[in-house]
Amino acid sequence: MTAPSDTKAANQMWGGRFAEGPDAIMTAINASIGFDQRLYAQDIAGSRAHAAMLAATGILTPNDAEAIGEGLLTVLSEIETGKFPFRTDLEDIHMNVENRLKELIGAPAGRLHTARSRNDQVAVDFRLWVRDQCDAAILGLTALMRAFVAQAEAGADWVMPGFTHLQTAQPVTWGHHMMAYVEMFARDRSRFEDARRRMNECPLGAAALAGTGFPIDRHMTAQALGFDRPTANSLDSVSDRDFALEFLAASSICAMHLSRFAEELVIWSSAQFRFVRLSDKWTTGSSIMPQKKNPDAAELLRAKVGRILGATVALFTVMKGLPLTYSKDMQEDKEQVFDAADTLMLGLAAMTGMVADMTANRPVLAQAAASGFSTATDLADWLVRELGLPFREAHHVTGTLVAMAETQGCDLPDLTLAQMQAVHPGIRDDVFSVLGVENSVRSRQSYGGTAPDQVRAQVARWKEKLA
Ligand code: ARG
Repeated sequence: MTAPSDTKAANQMWGGRFAEGPDAIMTAINASIGFDQRLYAQDIAGSRAHAAMLAATGILTPNDAEAIGEGLLTVLSEIETGKFPFRTDLEDIHMNVENRLKELIGAPAGRLHTARSRNDQVAVDFRLWVRDQCDAAILGLTALMRAFVAQAEAGADWVMPGFTHLQTAQPVTWGHHMMAYVEMFARDRSRFEDARRRMNECPLGAAALAGTGFPIDRHMTAQALGFDRPTANSLDSVSDRDFALEFLAASSICAMHLSRFAEELVIWSSAQFRFVRLSDKWTTGSSIMPQKKNPDAAELLRAKVGRILGATVALFTVMKGLPLTYSKDMQEDKEQVFDAADTLMLGLAAMTGMVADMTANRPVLAQAAASGFSTATDLADWLVRELGLPFREAHHVTGTLVAMAETQGCDLPDLTLAQMQAVHPGIRDDVFSVLGVENSVRSRQSYGGTAPDQVRAQVARWKEKLA
């Protein structure tokens, strides 16, 4: 890339009224080619669609349109083979491509920008790019959901403690816990699908802001670029960045979900919990402490949401208070979205790998499920069901029994029947059946509950949806 100080003469693309070129620092703050070169494929696709439409509507001769279309393909292959001479003095990807086209095909290149502006050009390029990222997120999320479903299927009836406040609450099943994340990532996926549907309107042809006097066919370009229809208001077309914000918002929520499971993995893989073993592929060692196996990937995934949410806040702040229509402020949209998208796709891939490779420690999970008086609610429910106690009274009786067990340093099933009857004389021997964790989870048959049958039903439903 050429240095800013190379620039002395007025810009060839728009410098007609300028006697001298920009200050080197102006070039440095103004140029976006350093990052918007990532839009090259979209820019060329948009230009090819535009040129074909200009020919179809008689605005360009077939020969000129043909030369432009072919020339753009040459530019594309130059960029893809690393031979393209990107120039900072040409500001952005749009002018870099057009200038190179002129070097390649001469005069007809100057006709490509008929009935178009960089304002609608960047709007269409960026929409196409973000649309692709929605597709990538949808694919990444689908793979991740499949990994969770596979874990759930394997462990539909493995018991583990369920937590509230990170305190043992009630026994649940491993499969149920895995399927909770399937629901979360399914909502994420539908957010990307929704955003994609809404953004799939083509702003090309809005020109600078007011539309154009040339007899263009916006439906033709919209269709050629895979959009559902052209946008309906030219002012909105060039000033709208909702599509980028929606992508970032969906990414932020998704990254927040990733961070929650990442945190569970950090806790679960610790020596204190030992609920899961992460594979060597997703952990690192310590250079000084030989026993260590650190969950670095999980920790990084816990952190990445900060970066993605940061990009979201940054673009919101850029867009807030901008008057219609295009303002150069909007050039600040791209780096945020690029970084957020890269971060999200990497995060989805890393999480998919970690989930697929992790191993649940069943004995430890089962032991933990049975500790912490996790079946106290089952006992209270039994008192309600079998003895007709009001739930509040049953809660009180159970609390007394928990306190008794705690004093004795044992769990609820370790109390004797006589000890229980001292608290409530109606308690019978069959109470012990509900104090076991296996029975506890099996009893939670309400729709969406943790019973293995319910989990298997959800696994089957999702396997079909994800097939
Ligand atoms: N590089 C610019 C951007 O990213 C392209 C649009 C420039 N339009 C203009 N009128 N200067 O927003």
